[in-house]
Amino acid sequence: TGMFTYDPGFTSTASCDSALTFIDGEEGVLLHRGYPIGQLAEHSSFMEVSHLLLNGELPTREELDDFTYTITRHTMLHDQLRGFYQGFRRDAHPMAIMCGVVGALSAFYHDSTDISDPEHRKISSHRLIAKMPTIAAMAFKYSSGQPFLYPDNTLSYTGNFLRMTFGVPAEDYVVHPVIERALDRIFILHADHEQNASTSTVRLAGSSGANPFACIAAGIACLWGPAHGGANEAALNMLHEIGHPDRIPEYLARAKDKDDPFRLMGFGHRVYKNYDPRATVMQKTVREVFEALQVSDPVFDVALQLEEMALNDDYFIEKKLFPNVDFYSGVILSAIGFPTTMFTALFALARTVGWVAQWNEMISDPAQRIGRPRQLYTGPTKRDYVPVSER
Ligand code: CMC
Repeated sequence: TGMFTYDPGFTSTASCDSALTFIDGEEGVLLHRGYPIGQLAEHSSFMEVSHLLLNGELPTREELDDFTYTITRHTMLHDQLRGFYQGFRRDAHPMAIMCGVVGALSAFYHDSTDISDPEHRKISSHRLIAKMPTIAAMAFKYSSGQPFLYPDNTLSYTGNFLRMTFGVPAEDYVVHPVIERALDRIFILHADHEQNASTSTVRLAGSSGANPFACIAAGIACLWGPAHGGANEAALNMLHEIGHPDRIPEYLARAKDKDDPFRLMGFGHRVYKNYDPRATVMQKTVREVFEALQVSDPVFDVALQLEEMALNDDYFIEKKLFPNVDFYSGVILSAIGFPTTMFTALFALARTVGWVAQWNEMISDPAQRIGRPRQLYTGPTKRDYVPVSER
């Protein structure tokens, strides 16, 4: 029937009003509440950007201290959840653990979560932002067989996460300021990105009035896929597989071959038809981290040369395919010491801020209704039931 607009993949459907994030894909512009992502990444902190996304404005000194203190107070996980981890195989993917543990939080904060009450929504949002580093670090510790570390609230949000991930009880862990800054910046770069697949998933799940912890678990599930957040893991695996600049042409040819499902991971974007502004910051951060740690990694050279060759290739020029946020992030994360399987978990940790900010915006919007897309039906027309003996 011609009653509905057919728009698979929602390329031209606005699902909501939003005052959070603006993207101009043609120009490669990304603004959070009006502030360019480059400026935020350079000068701000993840806590500031979280406050900005949640509350609409950059915090004053006092507001920032209050907000940071509030988040800090919620970093611990219910101790019963330690047992929950034991139910997973040691080789479980951290994203599988994240989906499960965040979903399970809904059972711990079930009755208190009256989502029509803004105060309740605020506490749920703070809990989620505060507990994600603890949950992600515990997923890592569980996989490596090391003991879980409790949060240390004298450290920054990002410093505390680094310690819970890489520290051990037997030794003091000293947070490296350059690593802390680089990771905090990576969190800023991932904080929000308007109505992407996982954010739309959170909004859709939340539109029925579901428990916010369950809604964020749904967002984590959607983020996991290689076309979305899983691309950072896939991109670094791809760079390793290419291994040497000599082999780049072979992979470029595969990416262009329509009979080969291979795609350049960390390349292309639904909205950006220009350089992803997050990739620019990411590339610069790789150099800073390498310099500070006095390390290098041959995959970075592969990445740089791959980018250059792709940007000069007619196929990529014609289709406007540029590096996205996931192209360089893995190079930094592995220099810091994260295994590739943790990359998407870090994306989920940072994107939680955007998810809860978008969820809050939706619930407080008077126009909010349950999300309920229609379809174009292509099945059989009405027919009568035939008993099994006559089929
Ligand atoms: N390598 C080779 N060809 C590509 C690529 C790529 N990475 N991306 C798109 N194309 C081609 C695609 O084959 C298609 O060609 P044609 O028109 O001839 O069929 C054309 O470009 C348009 O692609 P599409 O799949 O219709 O575009 P989309 O907007 O539906 O998909 C995308 C966007 C990001 C899923 C896609 O570019 C992709 O799969 N990229 C690789 C995965 C990736 O890096 N994802 C991360 C996205 S950014 C942040 C995040 O969400 O995590």
